[in-house]
Amino acid sequence: MLEPIIWEKDNLKLLDQRVLPHKKEYMVCKTVNDVAFAIKEMVVRGAPAIGVSAAFGVVLGLKEGKSINEIYELLKNTRPTAVNLIWALDKMKGAYEYCDGDINYIEKVAIKLFERDIEYNRMIGKNGVTVLNDGDNILTHCNAGALATAGYGTALGVFKAAKEAGLNIHVYVDETRPYLQGARLTAFELMEEDIPCTLICDNMPGFLMSQKKIDKIIVGADRIAKNGDTANKIGTYQLAVLAYYHDIPFYIAAPLSTFDFTIEDGSQIKIEMRNGDEIRKIKDIFISPKNVPVYNPAFDVTPSHLITGYITEFGVFSSVNELLNKINEGGENGN
Ligand code: MRU
Repeated sequence: MLEPIIWEKDNLKLLDQRVLPHKKEYMVCKTVNDVAFAIKEMVVRGAPAIGVSAAFGVVLGLKEGKSINEIYELLKNTRPTAVNLIWALDKMKGAYEYCDGDINYIEKVAIKLFERDIEYNRMIGKNGVTVLNDGDNILTHCNAGALATAGYGTALGVFKAAKEAGLNIHVYVDETRPYLQGARLTAFELMEEDIPCTLICDNMPGFLMSQKKIDKIIVGADRIAKNGDTANKIGTYQLAVLAYYHDIPFYIAAPLSTFDFTIEDGSQIKIEMRNGDEIRKIKDIFISPKNVPVYNPAFDVTPSHLITGYITEFGVFSSVNELLNKINEGGENGN
């Protein structure tokens, strides 16, 4: 299994996703500043992976003698859209206050968040299999795999669980411009797992849907509001609109840590704007006039009425209310 995040007591090793799939290199983070850099520069990316890395960043920062508030502020301001970051920082701050700064205890909490993320992804995978049929062709966007989490993945976790359950599935992977998480990371990860896949450009899904080549769409999420509106990688919204038009089920696979119950709807989600050179260049080569004005939002918001279901560690739900009822029934919040 791919190991995107490795904790080694005094340092955090992050598989450098900027150079995948052609190089497998780890960045060794020894300080909280290293971790903040790694999140900002997308050495590590994907909502749950950012959260787990930040948790270990807190441990490193405390070992350096920095204050919890300084660490919290530094890490909080790295990337704005994925709620898992704040979720993990709040957990770590809560742990710090609870144990009065006992570093061993705090480290154990970070390790627990890491382990639980993998555990919940496996549960998401199993639950997701229930919406699939043998022979399905599924489209995914961006990378919601092991690389985007502590391990196993959310949307890709569903594909892995389907394979483990003996289902024959095939995955269409769109490139996911401009950062190419689909082409560079998802295609790589699915091939490593021996899951049949085909790479397509971002402007092809509509044609494939019209040709009935896509049975389902499953993607991850960065933040899900109380009404179910979902922020995910830019381009997700247009896939959901196309899916609606073609009557194709559209699922979000995400753990509870990606739900933000403090916001009513998607209009309250802050969308990260990124450097224009990500669009002007591929790798180091300009593909456009060097000074062309560029607009580069990293995420968009898919309204809940376009979403067929939310695949979570608690089951598959057609609305966030249904999920909340289930959690309340069980008398636990899973976190
Ligand atoms: O900009 P990124 O690569 O961090 O964006 C990642 C995504 O949009 C993923 O789909 C999302 O975080 C879910 S990861 C399980």
